[in-house]
Amino acid sequence: MRDQAEILRQKMLAADGALARSIAVVSGKGGVGKSNFSTNFAYALIAKKKKVVIVDMDIGMGNIHILLGQTPKYNLMDYLVGKEGIEATINETNEGLHFISGGSGLDQVVEWSDSMFENLIHAFEYLQKNYDFILFDMGAGATEKSIELIMAIDEVIVISTTEPTSITDAYSMMKFIVMKDPETTFYLVSNRVPKKQDGDESVLRLQFAMKKFLQKETKILGYLPEDAAVQKAVIAQRPYFLVYPNAAISKKLSLMTEVFTSVNAEQNEQQASNFIKKLKNIFVRGRE
Ligand SMILES: Nc1ncnc2c1ncn2[C@@H]1O[C@H](COP(=O)(O)OP(=O)(O)OP(=O)(O)O)[C@@H](O)[C@H]1O
Ligand SMILES: [Mg+2]
Repeated sequence: MRDQAEILRQKMLAADGALARSIAVVSGKGGVGKSNFSTNFAYALIAKKKKVVIVDMDIGMGNIHILLGQTPKYNLMDYLVGKEGIEATINETNEGLHFISGGSGLDQVVEWSDSMFENLIHAFEYLQKNYDFILFDMGAGATEKSIELIMAIDEVIVISTTEPTSITDAYSMMKFIVMKDPETTFYLVSNRVPKKQDGDESVLRLQFAMKKFLQKETKILGYLPEDAAVQKAVIAQRPYFLVYPNAAISKKLSLMTEVFTSVNAEQNEQQASNFIKKLKNIFVRGRE
């Protein structure tokens, strides 16, 4: 099985065309806005003519499909157990966003079978070749497997709010990741910043703490204001970026994608090829 993964990886490296950038959207504290960020950020990237797929890693409690007002037929688990092919598992919205639903049940899987592992590698191989960006919306309760997946991903967007507990939890989360993989690139996003504030001090302090205590540079991607458009959009099950394109938050998000897409392309290519290699190492190590 390991040989097969290696053949797949070599095939990927030899493949023509650029590979997708894989990005994990994480937080320390739950409920800070990861899923709303993921869906709307995805649409902001699509507006810039990028091909984007979201993988809902909130297994068993996935809500990306709810935010998008969709009822997917199949989920990630259906694919992993071989019930469905990858194409059937990928859903598409009318506005061109592709996503794989979290569905339910993965937490109960104790042992990864060979075929599930192979399917997982195949899925990422497929996604990396067919998209510009793969966004992994990570769940609130970080399971062992989801943490392992984060370790394989080189780019991590960390969402926090201005609340001290959210900041300290975001710091702990990054510390944990840095200890395991010092090479991870972190982008910081401060969400729900009170409207009267033009910017956010807390995210600057978070950046400072990362540098001072962990000698780790992080990039501030920006801040998103507290905006009534978010709740209204959640209730309507339509992303605010589409229904309220002129809302302050939509404009900020658009600027963020500017910053994010301008990051060095060569470095991305290298990171993309590292992804499957790391993933393979993590899973093979866990199984020996
Ligand atoms: N910028 C914002 N302005 C106003 N409300 C917001 C904003 N961002 C998020 N919210 C509110 O926070 C709620 C939770 O957001 P979301 O579901 O995206 O968080 P999450 O981090 O994905 O949660 P979980 O950790 O449970 O997966 C939203 O339903 C919305 O009501
Ligand atoms: Mg969520």
